[in-house]
Amino acid sequence: MTYRVRSAEQRRAEIQARAAAMGIDEAFISNLVETFYTRVRAHDRLGPIFGQAIEDWDEHLPKMKDFWSSVAMNTGRYSGKPVPAHQKLSGVAKEDFAVWLGLFEETVRDLAPSEDVIPYFMERAQRIAESLKLAMFSIPSLQKSGLS
Ligand code: HEM
Repeated sequence: MTYRVRSAEQRRAEIQARAAAMGIDEAFISNLVETFYTRVRAHDRLGPIFGQAIEDWDEHLPKMKDFWSSVAMNTGRYSGKPVPAHQKLSGVAKEDFAVWLGLFEETVRDLAPSEDVIPYFMERAQRIAESLKLAMFSIPSLQKSGLS
């Protein structure tokens, strides 16, 4: 059996090449984030939740561009902690995640530079949504301990 040992550098280069081949770049991420949060703010259910929690959108949007750049292109630009940021939110129901994902998918579909970009983003968004939901709604002891 042959083992292929890849360094972090090689792995990063491979992910970046794969993303680039699909047409994913910083300009796309920037447009995706701007358009998605414009729609979030106008949304009947999500708009008030975000409106209440976010004071400065000029801070939130660059952070979310860094986040998606890290997730989609492995650029390592984001180093925040999404779990505690969501645990402190009030008025969010489990079902809101399906609404969030629906709106995100609609936005990705509208803007995607190629078909492959849609599952690429949605698989990642769904996985992260699952772990946020788990942390927010299923592990009360962990929620309070501050360990996450
Ligand atoms: C119903 C679903 C969701 C709601 C209501 C929600 C709401 C919010 C709000 C209000 C903030 C700002 C928190 C603050 O600055 O104090 C935030 C931050 C953030 N959200 Fe969400 N979110 C949801 C789902 C998601 C999902 C599915 C993802 C990822 C795929 C995500 C990724 C992030 C990230 C990375 C931050 C920045 C955390 C930080 O470093 O400060 N969110 N979210």
